[in-house]
Amino acid sequence: MKILVTGGAGFIGSCFVLQRVNSSDFIINLDKLTYSGNIENLNAVSDKPNYAFVRGDIGDSELVKKLLEEFQPDAVVNFAAESHVDRSIVDPDIFVRTNVLGTEILLRTVKEWWENLPTEKKDNFRLHHISTDEVFGTLKLEDPAFTEETPFAPNSPYSASKASSDHFVRAFNETYGLPTLITNCSNNYGPRQFPEKLIPLMTLNAISGKKLPIYGTGENIRDWLHVEDHCEAIYEVLTKGKVGETYNIGGKSERTNLFIVNKICSILDDIKPREDGKSYKEQITYVKDRLGHDFRYAINCAKVERDLGWTPRHTFEEGIKETVQWYLDNPSWVESIKTGEYRKWLEANYNGRE
Ligand code: NAD
Ligand code: TYD
Repeated sequence: MKILVTGGAGFIGSCFVLQRVNSSDFIINLDKLTYSGNIENLNAVSDKPNYAFVRGDIGDSELVKKLLEEFQPDAVVNFAAESHVDRSIVDPDIFVRTNVLGTEILLRTVKEWWENLPTEKKDNFRLHHISTDEVFGTLKLEDPAFTEETPFAPNSPYSASKASSDHFVRAFNETYGLPTLITNCSNNYGPRQFPEKLIPLMTLNAISGKKLPIYGTGENIRDWLHVEDHCEAIYEVLTKGKVGETYNIGGKSERTNLFIVNKICSILDDIKPREDGKSYKEQITYVKDRLGHDFRYAINCAKVERDLGWTPRHTFEEGIKETVQWYLDNPSWVESIKTGEYRKWLEANYNGRE
């Protein structure tokens, strides 16, 4: 299968690219390389003949058109986005530019190319948009988990921008018949996540002797999904999902933030004890709550389990241990992200493959 992946240098996109290149699909990875995109995430496949990287923006219609015409993909999978809630609270504009306008330009450009395809290729083509459970808003402790029928009620600028992009995808299916798929997933964890998100941030802060900042009471709940399970689900939906539909993907692992941070501390206490013999839990500190902080997310993924036979393979207990270990085992990845050396390297060495 030939897939044009967008945002494939980020956390989830790179996992998907690695899985698909290693399964002999042909991948072109279009990524702008923002602060969270890291070309080193693709080191393992960068020389493979079935992989190519192109630096660029999903909102660059001319570039996307050229790639579609030259590559003639069977599918486009759109991971490209601004992805961090805290950043969206500080500066929402870029979230509208990439997540809303960028997605719309991508959809329009794909639609204009797709309309002229021969019938069989046209029918078999898929545009798969990656989205979030945050579009559904927030749950109380006693509420049932989000289903595909839960109404949208986004609370942060990030989730509002993702909800808008989902609506555009749906509208392109309804209006023009573009064969689209949407997946809304819960919080991902695993290797190669930019250390602004809870799990890598707490892991790396802990071993650097920094504070572990818990927003509010730490009672907020997220449903944790291993990134490899997520990417396997995306492939199932891409290849077997019903056109025009959405699928929720979750990890069946609801945990409070406080549980997560304590867990990371306990794992580190075992595998990399502090020199003073005290627990990393001593570094936990409660800070001012996030503005508009959603209390709970939880995904009901019965549809994808029933219709497509997917279910998460990782248990949270094993997945979190492996993940913490990965950040300890990959100091050069961590260093490149933290110091910006990677960015300097990129400017000095990047000579493009397009
Ligand atoms: P990420 O921030 O790690 O990666 C985003 C990637 O998109 C980066 O490589 C970045 O360079 C690229 N990008 C940003 N703007 C671009 C543009 N205009 N054109 C081309 N490339 C651009 O994010 P992630 O965690 O890998 O998330 C991937 C997708 O999954 C996003 O759409 C996000 O909303 C969604 N999602 C993420 C999570 C999660 O837990 N991380 C949960 C639910 C949904
Ligand atoms: P995050 O990883 O930013 O994902 P999202 O906001 O998309 O769910 O945050 C996960 C949870 O952890 C969320 O409830 C906010 C909380 N959190 C902290 O308590 N401290 C932090 O430093 C961060 C980054 C997040």
